[in-house]
Order: sequence, then C-alpha cells, then structure tokens
Amino acid sequence: MFTEEIINRLTTQQTIELEDKFGAHNYHPIPVVIARGEGVFVWDVEGKRYFDFLSGYSALNQGHCHPRIIAAFIDQAQKLTLTSRAFHNNVFSEFAEYITDYFGFDKVLPMNTGAEGVETAIKLTRKWAYMKKGIPEGQAKIIVCEGNFHGRTTTIVSFSSDPDAFTNYGPYTPGFISIPYNDLDALKEALKDPHVAGFLVEPIQGEAGVILPDDGYLAKSFELCKAANVLFVADEIQTGIARTGKMLACDHEGVHPDVLILGKALSGGTMPVSAVLANDDIMLCIKPGEHGSTYGGNPLACRVAKVSLEVVKDEKLAENAAYLGPIFRKEIANIQSDIISIVRGKGLFNAIEVEPKNGKSPWQFCLELKDNGLLCKPTHGNIIRLAPPLTITEEQLMEAIGIIKKTARNF
Ligand SMILES: Cc1ncc(COP(=O)(O)O)c(C=O)c1O
Repeated sequence: MFTEEIINRLTTQQTIELEDKFGAHNYHPIPVVIARGEGVFVWDVEGKRYFDFLSGYSALNQGHCHPRIIAAFIDQAQKLTLTSRAFHNNVFSEFAEYITDYFGFDKVLPMNTGAEGVETAIKLTRKWAYMKKGIPEGQAKIIVCEGNFHGRTTTIVSFSSDPDAFTNYGPYTPGFISIPYNDLDALKEALKDPHVAGFLVEPIQGEAGVILPDDGYLAKSFELCKAANVLFVADEIQTGIARTGKMLACDHEGVHPDVLILGKALSGGTMPVSAVLANDDIMLCIKPGEHGSTYGGNPLACRVAKVSLEVVKDEKLAENAAYLGPIFRKEIANIQSDIISIVRGKGLFNAIEVEPKNGKSPWQFCLELKDNGLLCKPTHGNIIRLAPPLTITEEQLMEAIGIIKKTARNF
C-alpha cells in the first residue's frame, strides 16, 4: 500500500501514527523518526540532527554506518550471505580464528541475537554440568542476579526480577537461583549447593540502570566460582567490545570468564550477531546436531563481525572510552542544577538519575533533550542511560554535554 517514496514523505507524526496502527505495541519509543545515521549523529525525517546517546543499546559502539563495516557488508552481500552450517563457508573459519584469538578462548559458537547467545551459554553450562561435573541429569542450577537483564526468551524471563518482563509468561523454566547483585555473601551461600553449574552475571547491570558492583566483586566472584567448580558466565552483550574503556568489562578486574557472551556491537549495528566463547573442555560438550541456528555463523555476519572487531582495535575505541568517560562524569557532576542527582558509570557507559521537578518526569527530560538535539531514553524509573558511540570526539562530547547542561538548567 505504501511505496518507499511515500513512506519517506511522511512526517514524524504520520509515521508514528502508521507504526501505532500496524506495529505491535511492545515498545514505547521517544517520538522521533530517524531516517539516517552517520557516526555519532542521526537525522530525523524532517532533517533535524541529533546526537545518539543510546547507540542502539550499545550495538553502535563503532558509530552509525561505519564506512569500513558497511563496505565489508556490501562486498560480502554480493558474494555469499548464507550457507547454513550444513556446509562450510569460507568466512566462518577466519572469523572463528580471529575472535578466539582476540578474546583468548579455544572456540566460538556463533548465534544471532543476544538472547540466543545467553540461551546458548545456559545450555552449554548445563551440558558441562552433566558431562563434566557429574551433576545428576535434570538437576543443574544456575545462579543469577536480581535486577538482571539477559534478554526476552521464555527461559530468560523465567529468572528475571522485573514484573514487566515475566508477568503472564509462565509457566517458567526451573533451575535458576536468584541472589542480590553485588553480594558476595549471598553468592558464597548459593554456591554451597553441589548442583550449581554456573554463575551468570552482567559485569555492570545495564538495563537495571548502569549499576556498578563494588571494585573487586567480579574477581572475588570468579574465585568463589573456581573454588566451587562452577562456571563463571559473563554476559558482556552490553558491556563488552570497548564500551566501558576496556575490551571487556571483566578486564578491569583481570577476570577471564569460563564462558563469555557477546552480541550487539559485534556487528557494529548492522545485523544481529552474537557469539559464545569458551575453551575446549567446556565447548566440546556440545556435539554435532545438539545445538545451532540457521543463520548462526553465516558468512555475511562473520565478515561484518570480523571487521567490526578490527575497527574497535584500529580506532582505539576502548582507549577513547577510557579517556572520555571521566571527563563526561566530571562535567555532568558539575552542572549547576538540582535535577541531576547522580551520575555514574565506566568508560562511556554512564547513567544519570533525574529528580522529577515542577511535575515533570525523567521522560519529559528526555523529550526536552530531544528537542535540544540529543537522543536518549529512561531505563528504569528515573534513570537515564547515556552511552554515545565510542567514536565520539572530545569536541563532540563537549557539545553534547552543552546540550545536557542547557536542558538541565531550563528544566
Ligand atoms: C546484558 C544483555 N544481555 C542480553 C541482551 C539481549 O540481547 P538481544 O536484545 O540482542 O536479544 C541484552 C539486550 O539489551 C543485554 O543488555
């Protein structure tokens, strides 16, 4: 009914009405309709420019439409896009060698979305528990943390503590023990159960509102897991790939997880690519035919993922995030306004807490930021995550901080 030409001629309001009418209502977006992206900027259908401070929930660490990633994407798309793993393709092997070397693991299992990566890690952890640890069949447990966000599948929402995520989606998958985040005593206690196979944790809880654990939490948790012969499974889908100022958030504490889950920025925001990494004693517990995905390891994804990782290294994006993070937090903390009560984060993974004022909510603050040329969205309650592409320059960051300052002062 609507040709491409007509859709491009629709205004912001018309586009939103169309989406509202025909799209499911499982999201509540900020009312902006983006038509183009380049680096740290996006443009709406009326041509207004914005800083993107959400970065596709950290899928766009390399910035919108990175020329090297897009060039590789187009080149590969013209050669070969999918074989399924029924046959070998000439891209997966190179990617597998590259990513395992990059992160220091023996093997990689490629999937598509982040949630599939997490599901894969859960299955792998359970397999290892039965095949290697000797837990009786059907009794393996995985420890998770309250406030977690690991995706939206039925199993994953089974161990969510967010009622929006789990309500009315039961019956729920059993086999998970939920403990408070950043609580080593609770972990120690839970690890006493001999049927525990793994500890699944976000090094920083992103969706919960960029919640940072105490220094030493990851290293100590890892040690406790080792002592209990339990796999330390790190979900670095949002924190990984340079976001926090190191390649992995676990690197800040010298922790090398037993199982590492990556997604999002693995494709520089071009397509769903996720990966689970582990060493042979764990990964080889899964045998041919026991797990997979039609699109997992497809040549287009592998080519794009390899280049996306190369860009992170070549452009020193972790170093940039490490350098700009403290500047950002200092500038925001210095804003003379009583509406921003807290700024916290690591690297360019930050959040502010906004106090409602004059009957105006944090959502309203985001709308005013949008009007002033910066896009972001509240996560939980009054928390707003601020996470620009890691390609942002100091000059661009200062300009964006100027927008936040102006908006806060006028709020
Ligand atoms: C830590 C973490 N794990 C898993 C996911 C799920 O990824 P996806 O939305 O690609 O399924 C997300 C998404 O925000 C995430 O932040």
